[in-house]
Amino acid sequence: MSATDGAEPSVSSSNGQVPVDALAAAGLAEVEAHTPILELAAIRAAYGQIQVLHGVSLKVFRGETVVLLGANGAGKTTTISVMSGQMTPTAGDYLLAGRRVNGAAPDALARIGVCTIPEGRGVFPNLTVTENLLMASYGGTPAARIKDQAFELFPRLAERRNQAAGTMSGGEQQMLALARGLVTNPAILILDEISMGLAPIIVDELYSYVARIARSGVSIVIVEQFAHRALAIADRAYIMAHGSVTAEGDPADMEAVLQASYLGSGH
Ligand SMILES: Nc1ncnc2c1ncn2[C@@H]1O[C@H](COP(=O)(O)OP(=O)(O)OP(=O)(O)O)[C@@H](O)[C@H]1O
Ligand SMILES: [Mg+2]
Repeated sequence: MSATDGAEPSVSSSNGQVPVDALAAAGLAEVEAHTPILELAAIRAAYGQIQVLHGVSLKVFRGETVVLLGANGAGKTTTISVMSGQMTPTAGDYLLAGRRVNGAAPDALARIGVCTIPEGRGVFPNLTVTENLLMASYGGTPAARIKDQAFELFPRLAERRNQAAGTMSGGEQQMLALARGLVTNPAILILDEISMGLAPIIVDELYSYVARIARSGVSIVIVEQFAHRALAIADRAYIMAHGSVTAEGDPADMEAVLQASYLGSGH
């Protein structure tokens, strides 16, 4: 039995408004421990006629950090696009706290607590750090609180509050992207390749922030090509290849699977 207690489980609609708001009232983060806060069940997705996800199934439980690994083109970003509402699956079920949300709009999902930090950061380069943070305040959170929260977690952003985001280093921009996501108080934080193009020492710093966010109880989905650091903070991991999940398990086992496959393919 689902946590909906016999209530209509489907919240899919063309605009995603009313039913998704009902889900918000129920509180995404209040989901019972045995019901995944996020679940993809046999998800298929396509770009036009080209199908790229061939039945992806995965679960994230409350407070878990789950890593999604796989080579270039495996379908990781597409899977995240489904989670963020950017893409509507052609088949399968996308469930949040046990309710079906296929077709819900990205902003509706963001409002109920699904925060996605896209590949390539998604900060506004011509706006200052502070302006970028305030752009995230659509929920009506007071500006002072947003700044306090972001600058406490990322003191480096406080030092650079009046600097145009596009002139900051890659690592600093990624911190800003994380801070922008966090000020919305998400229940689920989805990160696509936050370490891309960054020096190892910066990646370590970013991952220490992500680990801290995870300890605060936020459920996290991390996509990474460079598995080691992500696996170090993960509770569970999935490996994708060619639009399907090919393995899942605890991080140590998945690291071994990856190493075997890289060795096998001559990498
Ligand atoms: N907008 C698009 N139009 C057509 N095909 C696309 C589009 N975006 C992605 N694809 C294709 O879908 C497949 C999966 O791409 P996706 O971006 O999900 O992979 P990925 O695992 O995130 O890879 P990477 O590690 O390189 O970011 C690839 O074959 C890719 O070429
Ligand atoms: Mg990608």
